[in-house]
Amino acid sequence: MNDLNQSTLDQPKVVGQRTPRIDGEFKLTGRAGYTGELSIEGMLYGYPVAATIAHGTLERLELDEALAMPGVVDIFHHANFPRLHRSPNSMGHGDQVSEVRLPFEGERIYYHGQYVALVVAESFAQARAAAQRVVARYRQETGAISSLLDGAHDSHSEGELLKDAGTRRGDPEAAFDGAAVKVDAVYHIAAESHLQMEMHATLAEWRDGGSRLVVHESSQGVFYQRNAMARIFDLAQENIEVISHYIGSGFGNKLFMWPHAVAAAGAARELGRPLKLVLPRPQDMTSGGNRPASRQRLRLGADRDGRLSAVIHDSTTETSLVDRYVDACGSATPSFYACDNLAVSQRILALNHGTPCPMRAPGEVSGIFALETAMDELAVALQMDPVELRLRNYAHKDPESGLPWSSKQLDKCLHSAAERFGWAQRDPGIGAMRDGDEIIGYGMAACTWFAGRQPCQARVELRADGTLFAACGTQDIGTGTYTIVAQTVAELTGVALADIEVKLGETSLPAGPLSGGSMATATTLPAVAAAVRDALGALKEVATGHGGVFAGCDADSLTVAEGTLSDGERSYRFAEVLEAMRLSSVNGQGSSAPGEEKKQYSFRSFGAHFVEVRVDPGISRVRVSRVVSSMDIGRAINPPTARNQVEGGIVMGIGMGLFEKLDYDPRDARLINANVADYIVPVHADIPEIDVELLDYPDFKFNEFGARGVGEIGLTGIAPAISNALYHATGKRYRDLPVTIEALLADHASA
Ligand code: MOS
Repeated sequence: MNDLNQSTLDQPKVVGQRTPRIDGEFKLTGRAGYTGELSIEGMLYGYPVAATIAHGTLERLELDEALAMPGVVDIFHHANFPRLHRSPNSMGHGDQVSEVRLPFEGERIYYHGQYVALVVAESFAQARAAAQRVVARYRQETGAISSLLDGAHDSHSEGELLKDAGTRRGDPEAAFDGAAVKVDAVYHIAAESHLQMEMHATLAEWRDGGSRLVVHESSQGVFYQRNAMARIFDLAQENIEVISHYIGSGFGNKLFMWPHAVAAAGAARELGRPLKLVLPRPQDMTSGGNRPASRQRLRLGADRDGRLSAVIHDSTTETSLVDRYVDACGSATPSFYACDNLAVSQRILALNHGTPCPMRAPGEVSGIFALETAMDELAVALQMDPVELRLRNYAHKDPESGLPWSSKQLDKCLHSAAERFGWAQRDPGIGAMRDGDEIIGYGMAACTWFAGRQPCQARVELRADGTLFAACGTQDIGTGTYTIVAQTVAELTGVALADIEVKLGETSLPAGPLSGGSMATATTLPAVAAAVRDALGALKEVATGHGGVFAGCDADSLTVAEGTLSDGERSYRFAEVLEAMRLSSVNGQGSSAPGEEKKQYSFRSFGAHFVEVRVDPGISRVRVSRVVSSMDIGRAINPPTARNQVEGGIVMGIGMGLFEKLDYDPRDARLINANVADYIVPVHADIPEIDVELLDYPDFKFNEFGARGVGEIGLTGIAPAISNALYHATGKRYRDLPVTIEALLADHASA
């Protein structure tokens, strides 16, 4: 096993090098089969019917017309769907239990979009046409809770205070009361949709007379889904296979399993035929997860030199009436800045929406908007440069755990990004920087995301045809996992990437982790490396055994390079070693898990974003015109895909800052903009040049590859950098996201 602090890779040649995605060609040529594109002989199509009220009871379903339509095979609903068992969801723990709710459990309607029926037909078009003819009669009730932010529920006492979700140190209230300089502000963030490119999709097939279930699902966790399906259908885990080879992104909503998957598998079993169900976009948005709205109050107290004496962060986030999802806004706050007096609290408020779920940097991205906007407000109150304020409160160890950081380069991120951005040229006066009709605003924010690992297993095969095969039951959700697994194998064997085959996304493979929490890289690569070493060990045994190419040699004396084994004089290709013994392959197994390192160090990635906005007050137009970022993520295994993750996070952050908002009708809690026309996301014209620098400080205390992960951090800190830049441009503090053109217009009208 490897010592902490040490890379086992001496001068890596492939790891850390720019490597084209090994699955790129499959995707570009359309050969990568996404779940919704797969077909099985004899397959049926399902199309859900979604509730059109958010609060009340289903009184009657009128199905005759739909059942008589061409190609319709059956319609499932609460009166005829099989009785199944519930299962915890992937994130459920403690009293914050998240469950896979089953479809068609009863007549009660909890949210707009809840499935009331599933139409099954011979074609997709037939299923959809018939679903539109199903008539559902409801008894609608008043009093639906539409949003945490709808006025009626926007108070500190709303919601349930979670006792085990808070943190305290020192005496924050007294410290705040006595502080020389204070910020006390409330921040609102609207609910957002993941709006991942590929909608949720399931293809379910029962085999062997209905005793075995094979499910293709666009999932961020095939093992989790298999285990959930096993509980729900009362099957042994080994009788279920879940497959997810290609995923058109997830952003967290494919970490959960949703009722559509159960509906598809249940209907397929009842009908004895495979069944495919692809959620239409409106249902994907109402019933496939969202980032819940949040309300946060931030209190900061500081002395006149800007040293924080108190941080009090109180958050309330939405959940649904059928779940207890907690979006922990305060989870990064205790570790962000050095401050002895701190309190974090969390409430949840249940309302008539589909269940929220993790969305890219869940909780922390919302919390960092509040914290980093409040820090800017504090800098203004102190008349201090906001970069200086952050350096003055620099946490040189983790203030929450008291442990040293494994590696923290936030200061370098702040300095480097500030310099590339030209922060020194900033005139701090409000609206002081102009270019023609436009006011230029500069804003910045620091950002962070935790680094974690999960248990993982992997298998590697060295084959007589000269190729290598690596397998792990994790997923590539578009982030580049296939490629970094291949790089790892190439690094340790010297075999060309073209001769390495990687298989992911199947429960028939060794158990791999969720693709979530930015943990897949640090989790998967050590297990793959262990499997490679195990396979090489097996190959050396073969080589040195009776009849082997190095018969009689000491296995430990052999070295590996360029796909060969060598004793210093002679070298043989792996395939030659195998051929000499007429073996088709040798296998290696590997596993890894988080270990003792967590007791010795705190692990977090940090970064800094600098944003320029241009505001045209004549037409209330805002543009983000430049973004300059520096990220400290440990080592980037594949720098282009890692940078691409940060860039994608920045684009999503511009959406969060200026555009994205799920709009619920306050009268009846219906989601108004459940479509891609009315839910506004940034387009190319909204995205400026993005300059992302990845600092190269490998974190060998975390794993031998030095990688901490990079999927989420880029999104954190962008929205506050934008709102801080807007303050600089306009003198108006924007504490509610998104900052829409309507909000700007209202401010200009009243100015
Ligand atoms: Mo992410 S919200 O862990 O996919």
